[in-house]
Amino acid sequence: MKVLLVGGGGREHALAWKLSKSKLCRHLYIAPGNPGTAQFGTNVDVSDTDIEGLVKFAKEKLINFVVVGPEDPLALGLVDKLEAVGIKAFGPSGPAAQLEADKAFAKKIMQSFSIPTAEARIFDDYDTAYEYIASRENGVVIKAAGLAKGKGVYVCNEPSEALRAAEKIMKDRIFGDAGRQIIVEEKMLGQEASILAFVDGRNIYVLESSQDHKPLCDGDKGPNTGGMGAYSPAPCVTEKLMSQIEREVLVPVVDGMNRNETPYKGLLYAGIMITAGGPRVLEFNVRFGDPETQPILMRLQSDLLEAMIACADGKLDEITLKWDPRPAVGVVMASGGYPDAYEKGKVITGIDQAEAVDDVKVFHAGTKTEGETLVNSGGRVLCVTALGSDIADAQKRAYEAVAKVKFDDAVYRTDIGAKAIKKS
Ligand code: AMP
Ligand code: GLY
Repeated sequence: MKVLLVGGGGREHALAWKLSKSKLCRHLYIAPGNPGTAQFGTNVDVSDTDIEGLVKFAKEKLINFVVVGPEDPLALGLVDKLEAVGIKAFGPSGPAAQLEADKAFAKKIMQSFSIPTAEARIFDDYDTAYEYIASRENGVVIKAAGLAKGKGVYVCNEPSEALRAAEKIMKDRIFGDAGRQIIVEEKMLGQEASILAFVDGRNIYVLESSQDHKPLCDGDKGPNTGGMGAYSPAPCVTEKLMSQIEREVLVPVVDGMNRNETPYKGLLYAGIMITAGGPRVLEFNVRFGDPETQPILMRLQSDLLEAMIACADGKLDEITLKWDPRPAVGVVMASGGYPDAYEKGKVITGIDQAEAVDDVKVFHAGTKTEGETLVNSGGRVLCVTALGSDIADAQKRAYEAVAKVKFDDAVYRTDIGAKAIKKS
């Protein structure tokens, strides 16, 4: 079949790699893709938010199946529009994608269906939010309700910090309309884990666990980013904890979405904080995580496309996924200055040498070609990912490969995986 993959980040490079290996995939198109995805299919010059353009392309090329990578096209209703013209797709409908695109919606679903999460209040007026935040004594977390590329969350220890965050989001509108409402929630403590599951409207199939590293700097310091590295599996997610998460989070949210008449299918991502009182939800995402997908897919041995089609067809109960037992670690190399402004056009070298290390793959995110030269074009540039006999070995091999990749002002964390190594 002909498959169209929508998106152009590191996640999509990993998805393109796995989709192209499927026995069902005759040709893969990627819109817009990146130099990494171009190794596995045809990049198409249509933006991932150009919904009309994507539907038109899919119709013209007689695409049989569309896989939507990022949240924006999902929230804009791409899957609904494709299905309306008879094209099958992997991903939730626009109304169901609110689970990520509108944190106030997600909070209400969690509150209505007793899903464990931080206590929270939602505000659409700055003055009322100000009064509430000023009255709080403990640490609080301020979140823009809308989509902000993973950067709209401020974890604050002092009310003054929280007030400044609320002002930036609601008054300065640094995330635009995503800051029309804010969520003020209790600060939770614990280790974090990313739990990804395929959902077909009814059935749930949980993938291997992983852990992201959101802060920019070693030791979880610095501002939040889209994610600076990840590993899979996350040893803090024991089998017992995984079944608790399935029972207390995944089952009720899928059930709740049905009762809310926004049935869910596609990939459901639960960001979990493992607190002293048990697992609690930090956020839901409606798509594969980036960079979690890179190490997770390094470990997937089954046919990804087959599983995605089963999701779209409501036949997830017919699927079993096989995993490489070896762990994987992915280290994100970012442009100097990210998550704020950064310079583009720095020449990147050494990817071939890095990939010459056994079981290493370098996934492209913010790269582009200028003639024969590869340069950086985005904040997160590459995710260097390695399998290893254990997490320490995967980490060692990932950093061995990172050392071979060069571009000016490259920044990366040097401790991806460290928490898992302490654990094991
Ligand atoms: P989110 O995008 O909502 O997952 O938030 C980004 C990051 O902010 C999370 O990965 C956590 O590290 C942190 N965070 C979000 N909400 C809370 C919370 N209620 N308590 C503590 N940390 C949080
Ligand atoms: N890695 C976090 C995310 O994809 O939102």
